[in-house]
Amino acid sequence: MSDESQPQVDNEASDDLLSRRGFIKVVAAGVGACYAGAIGYPVYQYLASPVEQAAMAAAVNEVTLPQAASLPKNTALMFRFGSKPSILIHHDDDTWSAMSAVCTHLGCTAGYVPEKKVIFCPCHGGTYDARTGANISGPPPKPLAPYKVEITDGKVIVTRA
Ligand code: FES
Repeated sequence: MSDESQPQVDNEASDDLLSRRGFIKVVAAGVGACYAGAIGYPVYQYLASPVEQAAMAAAVNEVTLPQAASLPKNTALMFRFGSKPSILIHHDDDTWSAMSAVCTHLGCTAGYVPEKKVIFCPCHGGTYDARTGANISGPPPKPLAPYKVEITDGKVIVTRA
């Protein structure tokens, strides 16, 4: 019997094939992990419970707004205090106020209306006092949560009241 009847296995080629397969598996696993992270993290953030979001918001006690000191009078700046949309208002008499912009009715984001000098929620027409955040009219049951405002070295520093 001769060796020519048996198929020849090239061990070197077989090892090379295995290492290519191993490399492709590692690359495929890495690409899969990247896709999982790219899709999973935004989904996780979207699904984060209100308790976790409240904890994130509670962790912040101060926000510095470096360019806000140059805000013209009778204008407002929207900013985030932790995860909460918030509003800073520079009044005509050069005083400042800041508060949460989360409407106390159903949680829409309210904004400053300079013509009327009030904070207005577009969802159901709730209005708030621009200096104190007190609920004036419409369905909001409570005032907006106020913050303290301090101007230091040309920066506006907003802290929890
Ligand atoms: S959510 Fe603001 S008035 Fe209803």
